[in-house]
Amino acid sequence: MNEEDIQNLILNAFEGRTKSYCPYSGYAVGAAILTSSGEIYRGCNVENSSYGATICAERCAALKAVSEGDKEFKAIAIVGGLKDAKELSDYAYPCGICRQFISEFGGSDMTVIVARSIDDKKVYKLSELLPEAFTSDSIR
Ligand code: THU
Repeated sequence: MNEEDIQNLILNAFEGRTKSYCPYSGYAVGAAILTSSGEIYRGCNVENSSYGATICAERCAALKAVSEGDKEFKAIAIVGGLKDAKELSDYAYPCGICRQFISEFGGSDMTVIVARSIDDKKVYKLSELLPEAFTSDSIR
């Protein structure tokens, strides 16, 4: 991915974050997934009064992609922080469940970007964040 593609994906993650429904934690997350078709799917965290029913932004974006038939993920950008903060204080790394969920459709060389702004970001391969992954190969 070139710098322009990375920055565009981060912008989409910020756009997704504007829709965050997080009345319980006050922590708003946005994600954007780029698929092999070139399409970008945005997501946000969607909380629930039964806290465990909450859906993370990454899985929200992933479900939108897969449910449209787009199952080959090339990259994901994630941004998160307190809803009312002026700037993001930290990188929002994907939780363990989301790392596993994404790996189903991404593979080890998928790009994972965590960002505080379009210029302040870290870029990883999924294999760095989910080493020795449990995959469909594991159960063959
Ligand atoms: N959250 C995400 O959206 N993605 C993650 O990877 C970690 C956590 C959300 C869930 C909840 O709405 C809020 O952040 C605080 O945990």
